[in-house]
Amino acid sequence: MKDSIRHLIQQALDRLTTEGVLPAGLTPAIQVENTRDKSHGDFASNIAMMLAKPAGMKPRDLAQKLIDALPQDAQISQVEIAGPGFLNFFQNTDALAERLEAALADPQLSVRKPGAPQRVVIDLSSPNLAKEMHVGHLRSTIIGDAVGRVLEFLGDEVIRQNHVGDWGTQFGMLLAYLEEKPAAAETELSDLEQFYRAAKQRFDESATFADRARELVVKLQAGDAECLRLWTRFNEISLSHCQKIYDRLNVKLTPADVKGESAYNAELPGIVDALCDKGLLTEDNGAQCVFLEDFKNAEGNPLPVIVQKAGGGYLYATTDLAAMRYRSQALHADRVLYFVDQRQALHFQMAFEVARRAGFVHDGMQLEHMGFGTMNGADGRPFKTRDGGTVKLIDLLDEAEQRAYSLVKEKNPDLDDAELRQIARAVGISAVKYADLSKHRTSDYRFNFELMLSFEGNTAPYLLYAYTRVSSVFRKLGKGIDEIEGRIQLEAEQELALAARIAQFGETLNNVGEKGEPHLLCSYLYDLAGLFSSFYEHCPILTAETEQQKQSRLRLAALTGKTLKQGLQLLGLEPLERM
Ligand code: ARG
Repeated sequence: MKDSIRHLIQQALDRLTTEGVLPAGLTPAIQVENTRDKSHGDFASNIAMMLAKPAGMKPRDLAQKLIDALPQDAQISQVEIAGPGFLNFFQNTDALAERLEAALADPQLSVRKPGAPQRVVIDLSSPNLAKEMHVGHLRSTIIGDAVGRVLEFLGDEVIRQNHVGDWGTQFGMLLAYLEEKPAAAETELSDLEQFYRAAKQRFDESATFADRARELVVKLQAGDAECLRLWTRFNEISLSHCQKIYDRLNVKLTPADVKGESAYNAELPGIVDALCDKGLLTEDNGAQCVFLEDFKNAEGNPLPVIVQKAGGGYLYATTDLAAMRYRSQALHADRVLYFVDQRQALHFQMAFEVARRAGFVHDGMQLEHMGFGTMNGADGRPFKTRDGGTVKLIDLLDEAEQRAYSLVKEKNPDLDDAELRQIARAVGISAVKYADLSKHRTSDYRFNFELMLSFEGNTAPYLLYAYTRVSSVFRKLGKGIDEIEGRIQLEAEQELALAARIAQFGETLNNVGEKGEPHLLCSYLYDLAGLFSSFYEHCPILTAETEQQKQSRLRLAALTGKTLKQGLQLLGLEPLERM
């Protein structure tokens, strides 16, 4: 709706420009907002105030000219001037009801992407396999998953790439330890963290061990069969730990999405050669570098992207260049989204620049780093265990489910234990995911069990509960959500407010897809749940005055339920029918 109003305003501006009322060459960003007080219309724009000065007119006079120049539109019943010169738009109630009817009849809920479908590569999760997944990987996994789901719903083709760290010097140490204690593969590897610590300890305490570790890296790189076998085994075990977490988190990642750093090993010499052929390489202290004029250090000198070390080894950036080339040339991506910690922002800006200059990616391919802030503890400090260690993801999820179990049990002492457990699982995991998704992606965020498990505020339990309230209306009625006859008629103020917000589902999802920001969907659902609540309070459904009104309200409730459910699923949460 906001988009179509923007479009109407643009047409009016064009007309006034042609008529000479407005000077040529104005290209204002047209802002349209939801109004707070619906008695003054549903949408407002400050465009007349913005352009009054360049037009040499009083804002209210320009506003009147704009209203006169606005094309007719079935969705708008009335436009008024308010205050210093705001344009207030009233939505046509019948047209709005029609739109909702159309959404109700459509499995896509009338959600479409305005542009052509794209092929989008999503780089997400991507933990380092040497260690167990920890809380640092939660955000990339969850946010990337939600954005992927939204893009798929909008009609894009999504290719997930789990760019795991399965190569590098740490593996020498791990292989040396496996060689020294072969039995450890079966026992200690069930706890990767423990295994890594034990290997690191040996590395630090014994020079012979450290030498052997370095030797094994070289052998591994040279393709030694036994080293490769141990390395493969190690990665398989580590990946199976990750997969367990993905399944438990209800994240759409499978082993087929794994394309780790090692997959690009054979490409790396070619990447360096190609950069050399393009004349982009400079040798600096024996290392091969691409210096970028646009990126400067504190002294004002250009910063390098190092692609090969003096000893011949390749780097993280080299692999990323190879991955970009693969995503362009083999996957034919239109768009690649990197869900990686904000602290890697510079790495990506520079790597994107090198890839473009070297022609590794086609011109139309969008490369976007979707950075995110750090997850901190409730005290605002980096998230750590009581003794200062990194928090294992698995422990965190266990605790979430445990806490959810106590809460749900307290609320429903009569539920049998199996159902209780199932609800607790959904609530606990959803709470962890939603707390992350609902925060602005780029800000740091505080992990707080009490807040995320609260039934009040913008939380998963609140939203899941709101959905069960809608479901319960139909349960009481003894009818399915799709079995309601009649038509939506919007009369009460609460019906109108709820309807107007439902109609913004598509626009919200398109914003999420464009910006890679699932918190926009969270705020939308939170709003929707609140509006449903006031509708439910003020507009009796099952005891409505007439049969027609009852049907209309049921249909409105049905569409709210469908929208909430679809929205929650797109966030990767599991809506419950009751809790
Ligand atoms: N493994 C890296 C890390 O844990 C993240 C990789 C992100 N993806 C990429 N294409 N660089 O920091």
